[in-house]
Amino acid sequence: MIELQDVHRRYAMSGQTVHALAGVDLRIDAGEFVAITGQSGSGKSSLLNILGCLDHPTSGHYLIEGRDAATLDDEAGSDLRNRRIGFVFQSFHLLPRLTVLENVLLPLRFHRDPPADAHARADMLLERVGLSQRRDHRPGELSGGQMQRAAIARALLLQPALLLADEPTGNLDSKSAADVLALIDEVHRDGQTVVLVTHDADIAAHAPRQVRLRDGRIEHDGPTHAATH
Ligand SMILES: Nc1ncnc2c1ncn2[C@@H]1O[C@H](COP(=O)(O)OP(=O)(O)OP(=O)(O)O)[C@@H](O)[C@H]1O
Ligand SMILES: [Mg+2]
Repeated sequence: MIELQDVHRRYAMSGQTVHALAGVDLRIDAGEFVAITGQSGSGKSSLLNILGCLDHPTSGHYLIEGRDAATLDDEAGSDLRNRRIGFVFQSFHLLPRLTVLENVLLPLRFHRDPPADAHARADMLLERVGLSQRRDHRPGELSGGQMQRAAIARALLLQPALLLADEPTGNLDSKSAADVLALIDEVHRDGQTVVLVTHDADIAAHAPRQVRLRDGRIEHDGPTHAATH
């Protein structure tokens, strides 16, 4: 489904260059559930942004469903992002003026042909993440964990073929984290592809495959039972 070929990402910042990804080769098949781990600054979010077509490699190639992401024109690229990919950002990216429910329904605004059951799905997802009572509140009135759960509900609204989640349990207590993981497990069982970024080894162990980054390179890639932590 997705393939990275010798991907590099360099950021130029005040005369300094940060080599966030330094030659990543990675292939993920449709229906896989992969955990990306690694220390802070190892390049996890940089990698996920590229997988989500939010950013492009400085060099190397990213192929999604057989097409080079760099060759998708803007419309095709945003169509792919909006319809095929669900993204849970590390920093949530909820719109402050919209209510929780409106935030969850946001993907519909970019969809030409919205599914008829989207509103029912929004209700169901808010229930599943424990936010039904907060649906008419604005993000500023929520705790960090509640914002995170709202962002997860939004990412799942359109049943994306590819779910990318950056530390989706980072702000959650263990009960809420377990609920979110159960939801992600379900997404995987439904046949959707999941890439989960986490620094937490117990959370990563939910995924059958582990990819560990170190200094922008893949240090380990293998089945979970073989992972050493
Ligand atoms: N927009 C940016 N401009 C400049 N440097 C950046 C930018 N984004 C990331 N970096 C740098 O690239 C490196 C990798 O960052 P990245 O955010 O991918 O790490 P991470 O593994 O997600 O870390 P964390 O676990 O803390 O979220 C870091 O050294 C970071 O400072
Ligand atoms: Mg990060």
